[in-house]
Amino acid sequence: MSTVDAVDTAPASERHPLPDPGEPVPKLALPTLAVFLGAVMAFAAATTGFIAGLVPFWVPTVVNAVVTFVMFTVVHDAVHYSISSTRWVNGLVGRLAWVFVVPVLALPAFGFIHIEHHRYANDDANDPDTFASHGKTWQLPFRWSLAEIFYGDYYLRRLRSRPNAEVAETAMLLSASIAGLIVAILTGNLWTLAVVFLIPQRIGIVFLAWWFDWLPHHGLEATQRTDRYRATRTRVGMEWLFTPLMLSQNYHLVHHLHPSVPFYRYVKTWKRNEEAYLERDAAIATVFGQQLNPEEFREWKELNNRLGRIVPVRMPGRSSATHSQLHRIPVAAVDPITADSTMVTFAVPEELRGEFRFAPGQHVTVRTDLGGENVRRNYSICAPATRAQLRIAVKHIAGGAFSGFVANELKAGDVLELMTPTGNFGTPLDPLNQKHYVGVVAGSGITPVLSILETVLEIETESRFTLVYGNHTKESTMFRIDLDRLESRYADRLQVLHVLSSEPMHTPELRGRIDAQRLGTLLTTALKPTEVDEWFLCGPIGMSTTAREMLIEHDVAPERIHLELFTGFAGDTERPRGDYIASTVTFRLSGSEATVDLQPGDSILEAALQVRSDAPYACMGGACGTCKAKLLTGEVVMDQNFALGRTELDAGYVLTCQSHPTTDEVSVDYDA
Ligand code: FES
Repeated sequence: MSTVDAVDTAPASERHPLPDPGEPVPKLALPTLAVFLGAVMAFAAATTGFIAGLVPFWVPTVVNAVVTFVMFTVVHDAVHYSISSTRWVNGLVGRLAWVFVVPVLALPAFGFIHIEHHRYANDDANDPDTFASHGKTWQLPFRWSLAEIFYGDYYLRRLRSRPNAEVAETAMLLSASIAGLIVAILTGNLWTLAVVFLIPQRIGIVFLAWWFDWLPHHGLEATQRTDRYRATRTRVGMEWLFTPLMLSQNYHLVHHLHPSVPFYRYVKTWKRNEEAYLERDAAIATVFGQQLNPEEFREWKELNNRLGRIVPVRMPGRSSATHSQLHRIPVAAVDPITADSTMVTFAVPEELRGEFRFAPGQHVTVRTDLGGENVRRNYSICAPATRAQLRIAVKHIAGGAFSGFVANELKAGDVLELMTPTGNFGTPLDPLNQKHYVGVVAGSGITPVLSILETVLEIETESRFTLVYGNHTKESTMFRIDLDRLESRYADRLQVLHVLSSEPMHTPELRGRIDAQRLGTLLTTALKPTEVDEWFLCGPIGMSTTAREMLIEHDVAPERIHLELFTGFAGDTERPRGDYIASTVTFRLSGSEATVDLQPGDSILEAALQVRSDAPYACMGGACGTCKAKLLTGEVVMDQNFALGRTELDAGYVLTCQSHPTTDEVSVDYDA
């Protein structure tokens, strides 16, 4: 379900009231005080132990890095006056803790910077913390480790407007820190200072920027001003580990909504207001980084409550794009799989992750210009849908423009245009299922089934999978090593039957092709249809359609057979050209509408492409489903359809590349 679908549309009067933090600031926050005292003692023990030669250097390095991290939580609560309802207590405890964190700015100066972050969170121009949450991935650790430089720069540019006392305190603290450093150098104690403070403090700062800034804010487009519920996120799952480890910053959204709530009450506050947050479309991600809209969160929560696992389930989602759209995506890696096939892995930018989420078995269209020609090819995604990794496998075809380009020229760093994932090959997964799935595939037909198979084995821990996989030889078998690895990992739940046509020494029962005779034998021995819940067929058209017919002959219900064709084919559906009529076609795409005159014989897609070059398509053969749209008015006939199932047809969807109007006026909606 898309985010837009899930946003609450109930009238304000029917909503839960505004979230309420509930409890006032305590007289004295004992947990915060305990964290402070514990950190002081840990610092003293590790530091004196090292100076006295009782512990090796890594002990104070690790312990004092943790001290820097936890002391920041004390400081953080102090600047929000949530340690005590007595104001000066916050100032005192905060200043003492601050010495362990960044002793080059006064506490009030940091307080000013931090409140600006709250006011402008995610706003590039004014938020002092975007240095940590925005930027190229490879730069982030460096940026995180230089937090003081970014904060110092922000503060200096606003120095004139700051109170004199705050500036004077900053100058004194900075001078004292520089003096301490000089003394350490002159007295030969620089190494000791580095081990007990400089190195651990740097490590602590990196974790602070990562966990307080990047995790809660990166990839969110809203700012605090535009949508305070979506400028920061909550990260759900494994609270038993992450809440104590991150000192509750996994629920950072609660802090941005109610800054005066002490850190140890974030989770409690979330629970108290959860429905109110969800009604306001709060930003939520799982510990694995999967973004959830409120409806998905409710399902995820219910599922995990039912399963009661220590580690939450990772559920695959679907693209959040309203219709297939092209984006420029860099290639992360190009790796040979066999002598005649190559795997291409894409580096999907953070901000497009939602659009490029995919269900197992879905495919993407790749577009590029080769020799001045617009080339589009459709490839199944061959990665499990539980990972954020998008990869395709390209089989080399003699004379094939795109496959030749991939084999000989494409390299990491190149950019291709990639359409958001589409397709319906697959089945809804449920961790409580106990099913037996069978895949019958040949050659590159393995690609979508590999994604389904890996996702099933990961999510449905009680289901099993049998794969019948046809190839010429062992060496030409795509993903042979991956399948061997999966078979050893899921020994009791995965069985792969390699059928090889050009391996004279192969097991006699599995030597040859996947044809009617072999399937007939399998259906009466290893794969009795009564013992199989769902079938996935993908490979050459002849093999797939033969397998489907045989399964139906063996009384398998058609809805339990999933068929994926990489290309459509010219059957007996060609209609005499005279049967087609002219029509006026109105279509909606990406929120805007256009009307165009369609010539007899043209498809709706061809008409749409006359005025909108971004109308989505890939195979043009009725096989991929990329050109799907909802028929709003009028009637059409489709030449062929290998992509839409009964449910979608009943809901009014058509393949526009195959649709010809039979009424004078037709309107379709690609966004529906
Ligand atoms: S473009 Fe593939 S089904 Fe229409």
